[in-house]
Amino acid sequence: MTDIERVGVVGCGQMGAGIAEVCARAGLGVMVAETTGEALELGRTRLTSSLDRAVGRGKITKEERDDTLDRLSFTTDLGEFADRDLVVEAVVENEQVKTEIFQVLDQVVTRPDAILASNTSSIPLVRLAVATSRPEQVIGVHFFNPAPVQRLVELIPALTTSDETIKRAEEAVTAVLGKHAIRAQDRSGFVVNALLIPYLLSAIRMFESGIASREDIDNGMEMGCAHPMGPLKLADLIGLDTVASVAYSMYEEYKEPLYAAPPLLQRMVDAGRLGRKTGSGFYPYA
Ligand code: 3HC
Repeated sequence: MTDIERVGVVGCGQMGAGIAEVCARAGLGVMVAETTGEALELGRTRLTSSLDRAVGRGKITKEERDDTLDRLSFTTDLGEFADRDLVVEAVVENEQVKTEIFQVLDQVVTRPDAILASNTSSIPLVRLAVATSRPEQVIGVHFFNPAPVQRLVELIPALTTSDETIKRAEEAVTAVLGKHAIRAQDRSGFVVNALLIPYLLSAIRMFESGIASREDIDNGMEMGCAHPMGPLKLADLIGLDTVASVAYSMYEEYKEPLYAAPPLLQRMVDAGRLGRKTGSGFYPYA
């Protein structure tokens, strides 16, 4: 059984909040870090609303929600992560930002066997691993949005990751968090995004070229192929900045046109229309 009890989550956006919720609901003590008090409050509200929603849907009781909230703590100081057994970094998909966070974690996390994980969608894990003095303890642990709902987690060992780290991370993800784990090599996009992103980009190209309306493209995949949401709605859910940066990373890695971000996607990112999180993407959100 796993020896992981204290988790740190860096970043409390959509993914960070979801990952923190999954860990706290599984009974682990979770400390969440954000850069500013304002971002932390937004993250706390995101987490509380999600738990309230789970109560409203009868998935957890009010007592379970309160116990989960008791297991969560919040900080703007990564120095408080000293005693964490597992840290999951879930900040913006930017290599420089993530690298700096791994350098700081390496300094502050004192437990010698702590696992330093990244929820990156596409950045090579080995680059984050070698930013630390313990590259054998760095691994990719990639959750899917919304993290409390999606059953899958991808485990991505870097070239430097030890078998022990892979084994402990896999146990934590499966036995403690109750997720299904699949393993992928440290190649941009891993398994799921390598298949999903070209599909989303194709849908954006189709919309951009006027072949069909956004509703008809989405209905096509929802009603024709039983997808829970069509590709343009899904891109809005993931965040168009994230879709674009995953596409850029994969294009840089493989140099294949199918990973090239279409101009419309880039313009929407430039315009700040990033999908649900900004209230506007392919669709408006109230
Ligand atoms: N947090 C927690 N639970 C949520 C949630 C959230 N943000 N959103 C929805 N849920 C739960 C609801 O509580 C509900 O649970 P219940 O059925 O047990 O009561 C269930 O999900 C269904 O919710 P709704 O009825 O409100 O809505 P839908 O039936 O339309 O489902 C959805 C919403 C779960 C988002 C579904 O449409 C879906 O699975 N869509 C596909 C999402 C997907 O493909 N995600 C992967 C993205 S790729 C990625 O993340 C990788 C990254 O690297 C890019």
